[in-house]
Amino acid sequence: MIFLTRYFWAILVIWGSFSTNSGFVIDIYRDDSSRSGNELIDYSSARKDTWDYEVVTLYKFLNAEYYGIIRIGRPAQEFKVVFDTAWGDSWVPSQHCGFTELSCMLHKRYDSSKSSTYRENGTLFSRKDSELELSGFLSVDNFHLEHLEVVNQTFIEMTHMSWKPFSFWKADGIIGLGWKTLAIDGTVPFFYNMIKQKIAKQNIFTFYMNRDETTNKAGKLILGNTERSHAKGNLTYVRVVKKGYWTIVMDRLTIEGKKTNKTYAFCKNNCQVVMDTSANTISGPANEIQAINNLLGAKQVWPYWPYKYMVHCREYALLPHVTFVFNDREFTIESKYYIQHVVYDGVEACLSPFVPSPLDIWELGGAFLMQFYTEFDFDNERIGIAETVF
Ligand SMILES: *[C@@H]1O[C@H](CO)[C@@H](O)[C@H](O)[C@H]1NC(C)=O
Ligand SMILES: *[C@@H]1O[C@H](CO)[C@@H](O)[C@H](O)[C@H]1NC(C)=O
Ligand SMILES: *[C@@H]1O[C@H](CO)[C@@H](O)[C@H](O)[C@H]1NC(C)=O
Ligand SMILES: *[C@@H]1O[C@H](CO)[C@@H](O)[C@H](O)[C@H]1NC(C)=O
Repeated sequence: MIFLTRYFWAILVIWGSFSTNSGFVIDIYRDDSSRSGNELIDYSSARKDTWDYEVVTLYKFLNAEYYGIIRIGRPAQEFKVVFDTAWGDSWVPSQHCGFTELSCMLHKRYDSSKSSTYRENGTLFSRKDSELELSGFLSVDNFHLEHLEVVNQTFIEMTHMSWKPFSFWKADGIIGLGWKTLAIDGTVPFFYNMIKQKIAKQNIFTFYMNRDETTNKAGKLILGNTERSHAKGNLTYVRVVKKGYWTIVMDRLTIEGKKTNKTYAFCKNNCQVVMDTSANTISGPANEIQAINNLLGAKQVWPYWPYKYMVHCREYALLPHVTFVFNDREFTIESKYYIQHVVYDGVEACLSPFVPSPLDIWELGGAFLMQFYTEFDFDNERIGIAETVF
């Protein structure tokens, strides 16, 4: 979970009236055309019997945040949630947060008194680190996806959410898709519950995203299945080496130095990387990130924002390719896809996706996932990667 990115975007939004440059929207997913995402759904119907997996449409906000819709309780209360492979628990803001809680007040809040399926738990939760503060308590209710219902899901109702980063979030909360060890002891995480309750058949979920700037649809998450029609060729399987975050070993990351004809390698020697579906960046140890940004000619132009690097928009499509190597197979991205190209208030900005990690670990977020189809496989303890067929 990388909060810096969202904070950054929020600053941009506050600075200027943001023009997203998207005058039209292309729906690249034919099967979405009938769903608005907001229509009321009758959950008492027997439709769930015909589904043994779920397809969640992901939306993007400022090309930085990816979220889907979930409904909690009866009658259903709707939330925007980040489906986050780097988080264990699920949480939403609570109706019980005080009026001084700005981040909470700015978001949709769960009201247990209005849900007939709510069950109390009350165990307190809190988390505090250099980037965020959260506290709340556990509650239990039923979670509704478009076709499936997960009953008795334990989640956190947040009563305190630090101003930074949460007041800048478009999403209200998080559905944690990390391994169980990341979650509160004794609770069953959301996807584990789908498997336990046998509403999802396969213990696997799949992300594929698009890089189309003209749509607010970011892609899809398939809970309990794969969608191989969006994968080019055979998948490369990479073993999960830590079952908390989805951590795998990357052979290396290489960049061709255009001026010197030399290949520069980073993240060598059994380098571990975390797959993070909540961020749009690629983060790593500060010294390696600095060297990569130097190769791209990216500069820290804003002294007050030390974590972001920019390149000249005139040449952003001409920068070197970046290659990720897993199990000897190369996955290459062109700069026109990995550079985050945005236009605000008539001014263009071209950002490097490479940011230093406060935790000194490598995390691959949207800049990688927008090119590559990924299957997160619990049973085989591996991640399958292929080029995305858009
Ligand atoms: C959900 O909780 C209710 C009340 O405790 C219980 O009756 C029901 O069996 C539970 N359902 C599942 C699938 O755990
Ligand atoms: C609250 O949930 C936790 C985790 O599932 C469980 O261990 C605990 O017994 C529950 N407490 C109450 C009061 O239901
Ligand atoms: C995919 O895997 C199959 C079975 O291992 C193999 O026969 C085939 O050649 C592979 N295809 C490609 C494009 O690598
Ligand atoms: C880099 O390679 C190209 C094509 O092979 C060549 O024309 C150019 O002179 C090389 N540049 C350097 C600095 O070696």
